[in-house]
Amino acid sequence: MSLVVGVDVGTSGTKALAIDERGKVVASATVEYPLLSPKPSWAEQTPSDWKRATLEALSRLAHSPGVKAADIKGLGLTGQMHGSVFLDKDHNVLRNAILWCDQRTAKQCDDITSKVGAQRLIEMVCNPALTGFTAPKILWLRENEPKVYERVRRVLLPKDYIRYELTGEFATDVADASGTLLFDVKNRAWHKELMSLLDVPLDFMPRAYEGPEVTGQLSSEAAQATGIPKSIPVIAGGGDQAAGGVGCGIVKSGVISATVGTSGVVFAFADRVSLDPEGRVHTFCHSVPGKWHVMGVVLSAGGSLRWFRDTLCQAEKTVAAETGADPYEYITAAAGQVAPSAEGLIFLPYLTGERTPHKDPFAKGAFVGLSLRHTRAHMARAVLEGVAFAMRDSLEIMRGMGVSIEQVRASGGGARSTLWRQIQADVNKAPLVMINVDEGPAYGAALLATVATGMYGSVEEACAATIRVVDSCEPDVARAPSYDPWFAEYQACYRALAPGFRRVADLL
Ligand code: XUL
Repeated sequence: MSLVVGVDVGTSGTKALAIDERGKVVASATVEYPLLSPKPSWAEQTPSDWKRATLEALSRLAHSPGVKAADIKGLGLTGQMHGSVFLDKDHNVLRNAILWCDQRTAKQCDDITSKVGAQRLIEMVCNPALTGFTAPKILWLRENEPKVYERVRRVLLPKDYIRYELTGEFATDVADASGTLLFDVKNRAWHKELMSLLDVPLDFMPRAYEGPEVTGQLSSEAAQATGIPKSIPVIAGGGDQAAGGVGCGIVKSGVISATVGTSGVVFAFADRVSLDPEGRVHTFCHSVPGKWHVMGVVLSAGGSLRWFRDTLCQAEKTVAAETGADPYEYITAAAGQVAPSAEGLIFLPYLTGERTPHKDPFAKGAFVGLSLRHTRAHMARAVLEGVAFAMRDSLEIMRGMGVSIEQVRASGGGARSTLWRQIQADVNKAPLVMINVDEGPAYGAALLATVATGMYGSVEEACAATIRVVDSCEPDVARAPSYDPWFAEYQACYRALAPGFRRVADLL
């Protein structure tokens, strides 16, 4: 039976998985690497770490029991979006890659917005200048490391650097390109006028393909290093959110996904370009050819719970280490003993600033309303609810844009907790359904490869054949509406604290 491979160059590691023609996962391997933070609010990674991890993950995959390497017919790529890899004329990496969660570019975002005009920028590239995006990183390099900038000849997104290492080709896909702020999302091509306004050479950026298109073949070196057959097609794939959308079957109107990983993403399919005039949600090309998607991004979703676990839950971690359980089980069990709205404790999950809806790199996390009655269990519940409120912010903006929301599909690590799923269903006042696969973007990248290799006629067909709903969590009729006033207070807390966040940033 033929197999295809999906590779996700993520933030904590690279995951490779192989699926068969029916979409069954036959093997999967993940290799981790560190996240570097040389200064507060900076986030970088070493591209050679991605390369080493990708080759190792592919090699483990090719040698897994149940995988006959010769059956592998194609490979799709996905990965963390927005990061920038700077290459010189000999295609050497010039410095560490600056990542999607790096917040150093507030000044460059302001400069881009005042040069182009906030409204015009949204008209040109469908999105506002946000610190995570790629264009401000290029401008930051030009201003702060001019000697390095002088030598730049190519700028690649993370998975596209890996594409270069696997195939020798420079290419990207329209979904990932959309997150650079240099891409004409409406017309699915680089925005020449904006690039010239910002003085970013057009030839820095690689050719952009639709998700299931072939961009090159696996090189002999990569084949030798991994055991994957030489010359198999390597597919454009997509940025991790678009590929993740495909992997959840978000390929038609009405079905949206809520993914709680490190970040939290609410993702909706769009038949045509659909914009929030304030640019609070992103409008990007989809990995479904000729289609788009709208998404809201909460920067610290699962990341907030991880922070809570690592900072305040040593006891749970110790017990979990002794029992072999997952510390999150103890934390969520304790949170489940606390009444909804945590007796008035509200958590703002803005630990790394926030994108949707605030577009505020200076926003900070906060527990608001602490009293002597509150315990760690209340704090745990407040974290779960705060993240759900943050995701509802995105849903509300989409509702306001007229996006149809018939079904919300849960995915990511956060979907594993029954309590967190119930809280999300209650806070959103919409059913949260589970699907049969939870392999994330790598699965979507593999599905795109099934289309490229002719196993399916279209992305929609591939999704229909492989993805189905297996369970649903209904909102509780009494509890769900009771969250409304708390959601309003949650929103009011940010408005009250935002000027202070800015002043504190200045003080620091
Ligand atoms: C999407 C985004 C993150 C990264 C990392 O806009 O910034 O989801 O792609 O996963």
